[in-house]
Amino acid sequence: MKSLLGKLNREHSLELEEYQLLIENINPDLMKLAAEYAVKYQKEYYGNKVFIRGLVEFTNYCKNDCFYCGIRRDNRECERYRLRMDDIISCADEGYKLGFRTVVLQGGEDLAFKDQDICNIIKGIKAAHPDMVVTLSIGERDHDSYQAYFDAGADRYLLRHETANPELYARLHPGEMSFLHRMNCLQDLKNIGYQVGAGFMVQSPGQTARDLAMDLKFIEEFKPDMCGIGPFISHKDTPFAKEKSGTLEMTLFLLSLLRIIYPQMLIPATTALGTIDPRGREKGILAGANVVMPNLSPTSVRKMYTLYDNKICTGEEAAECINCLKGRVSSVGYEIVEDAGDRVGFYK
Ligand code: 5AD
Ligand code: FES
Repeated sequence: MKSLLGKLNREHSLELEEYQLLIENINPDLMKLAAEYAVKYQKEYYGNKVFIRGLVEFTNYCKNDCFYCGIRRDNRECERYRLRMDDIISCADEGYKLGFRTVVLQGGEDLAFKDQDICNIIKGIKAAHPDMVVTLSIGERDHDSYQAYFDAGADRYLLRHETANPELYARLHPGEMSFLHRMNCLQDLKNIGYQVGAGFMVQSPGQTARDLAMDLKFIEEFKPDMCGIGPFISHKDTPFAKEKSGTLEMTLFLLSLLRIIYPQMLIPATTALGTIDPRGREKGILAGANVVMPNLSPTSVRKMYTLYDNKICTGEEAAECINCLKGRVSSVGYEIVEDAGDRVGFYK
């Protein structure tokens, strides 16, 4: 297995079967070697810098019904909210004061926010803070909408592919959702000129080593600017309430493999990783991640944006989270920087 990892380190590419073998044979020695290779690239391109993104979860209404997600349409237990435009902009203002130069506007697929509304929010933030990067994470929309947001000033877009295997996709989502449509959205976003974030859940129900190998192959070929991964974590009011969560070890191993596959990629240590292990995010950085995404949403709504059970940071103010994270990041020898944090090599 170590020679396979050596091959990946030299060629940044493996056959699907080879990725699968690595995943099936995960062990502490292999994880350690993968993390060594990964950190070498992380340091080469990003030094000991960790980028921050301020996450504003502005609506938990969602027209979709993904089986794993706590804000799915059919979850009647979920108390719904929508932030008003000026509240969203105030969150960005607060973020700016705290040193954030990227704000991520994330929400369920809420059609109450028309294209024009989204454009106005982007323009409002850009007018107040011309050097703030605006990232959208609002799901699948059509090409012209994506183009309109881009023209209004949006710079980046996060849309996890969730799984690169169409068959698994169909088992995680209701029939009305389409794998092809999602992949087309990612291609549209890239063509328009966004910095694009893809990503997948680790050990979602029914996921095999081959499925994860397909995710790695997809990332190797699609080369998104960012790839966000986190363990699947069950949510009590979803069809997957009784399913096992993903593990820390597999998530860390995959973080390292992703860094080796595409050394310059932006890779977050996610909130889900921090949820399954109290030092999950620190361990993620030591495995090769270089981004953290603390929450800027008003504390009054945080508990309502519950994608999975036991989500961390739902009681803390933005300032508390950023201070907490500064301490955590420096405890492992890295440093949070006040920087928009583009992918190395990205040109507009
Ligand atoms: N466990 C882990 N991650 C989840 N997401 C949604 N529900 C869950 C869950 N139960 C992830 C999805 C989505 C992102 C916003 O959160 O990958 O794209
Ligand atoms: Fe939110 Fe630590 S990051 S409390």
